[in-house]
Amino acid sequence: MQFPAEFVFGSATASYQIEGAVHEDGRGPSIWDTFSHTPGKVLDGDTGDVADDHYHRLDEDLDLMAELGLEAYRFSIAWPRIVPAGRGAVNQAGLDFYSRLVDGLLARNIRPVATLYHWDLPQALEDEGGWTVRGTAEAFAAYARVVGEALGDRVHTWTTLNEPWCSAYLGYSSGVHAPGRTDPLAALQAVHHLNLAHGLALRELRQVVRPDAQFSVTLNLHVFRPVGASGEAARSKVDALANGVFLGPMLEGAYPAESLEVTSSITDWSFVRDGDLELIRQPIDVLGVNYYSTNRVSLWDGTGELQRADGHGASSATAWPGADDVEFLPTDPPHTDMGWNIDPQGLEDLLVELGQRYPDQPLMVTENGAAFPDVVAEDGRIHDADRTDYVRRHLRAVLNVREKGVDVRGYFLWSLLDNFEWSYGYSKRFGIVRVDYETLERTPKDSARWYASVVRNRSLD
Ligand code: NOJ
Repeated sequence: MQFPAEFVFGSATASYQIEGAVHEDGRGPSIWDTFSHTPGKVLDGDTGDVADDHYHRLDEDLDLMAELGLEAYRFSIAWPRIVPAGRGAVNQAGLDFYSRLVDGLLARNIRPVATLYHWDLPQALEDEGGWTVRGTAEAFAAYARVVGEALGDRVHTWTTLNEPWCSAYLGYSSGVHAPGRTDPLAALQAVHHLNLAHGLALRELRQVVRPDAQFSVTLNLHVFRPVGASGEAARSKVDALANGVFLGPMLEGAYPAESLEVTSSITDWSFVRDGDLELIRQPIDVLGVNYYSTNRVSLWDGTGELQRADGHGASSATAWPGADDVEFLPTDPPHTDMGWNIDPQGLEDLLVELGQRYPDQPLMVTENGAAFPDVVAEDGRIHDADRTDYVRRHLRAVLNVREKGVDVRGYFLWSLLDNFEWSYGYSKRFGIVRVDYETLERTPKDSARWYASVVRNRSLD
């Protein structure tokens, strides 16, 4: 089994996780600057102030990508570098940085895949309500247009949002991500305004970028495995909250009845205005899927302590608005360093289900990878056989679903570099390239060499 020539192999990163240089060239503060500098929010008090210093090491990192033979690079653009106050004045120096990045990719024959929002919301917009208010979606559309005008002649694929599930629920209801709020109604308002932002931004982008550009969104669709007699009831609730609220509006033009019902004690969704759903549902060229692991769910029977082993630190009762009776049961080993189970079958199941439900919608795995507690061996190398094995098994799953006729067009490994893993700080290493946080030196791990050979040979053998 081979990956055809048109299947694209890439790697992914995100601005706040790698760039550093947070005060440079006119960048404004984002909610992650505020959050990471708030004591107790991020493990060990880590922040993205320096991160991988990618902002200053752009050329070195571009060369690294070329050395590994990457065919595509999925990066994100920091909104606060482009529009430091969220709306209004545009910062040319910010645009120049990404313009250099895109040119550097093209010069190395690497396809630029740009994400407009990977969680670094300008703090000024959060101060006005953040994603709970409509104005943020409107500001996002204006920012998208500015970026589209500057880079639209060269970017191959545009992704509006990365994992809006995290932005809404981890940001506004469980509070483990910035801005750290714990209000279920706020999370559902955020869901809708993120959806709206996606639709409004696509409308703007289409007007200003090259006509052959591709448009996409990246969702972290959840795979819930039902356990016991109440398993299916539990699955259907959390599926409506995690997946339905995004797939419904974006691909089908409506919030699923189940999503409205599960959340009915919290809101009547009257913040959805006439015309919003038409705006949100827009044809996309590719649906991006981020996949890491699976969950096991059942309904809590009211005895003992409610289990919330959902791997996102979402232990607070507000994490899943309206589904506070759903238990997340422990998963079977093996687990990665995140505590997430390794279940390549879940990726297969997810892609097959999407293929059946949306047969005309091309798919792309926009993130998959694993954190492991790497060690530098005496020979100076990082023999991360566990990571290679993880990626190999998930790529095998991709080949399997392609065999079944599902249109999966590419795979992006998370991540190119070890980086700032949000509330876990630098304690979790996802990179195929090691970053020494003292010296900022980059060292390709064994998994990077192996991945390069897969890209070259287009096969796993
Ligand atoms: C999802 C996110 O998009 C990315 O920012 C994060 O680092 C990885 N998954 C791993 O948790």
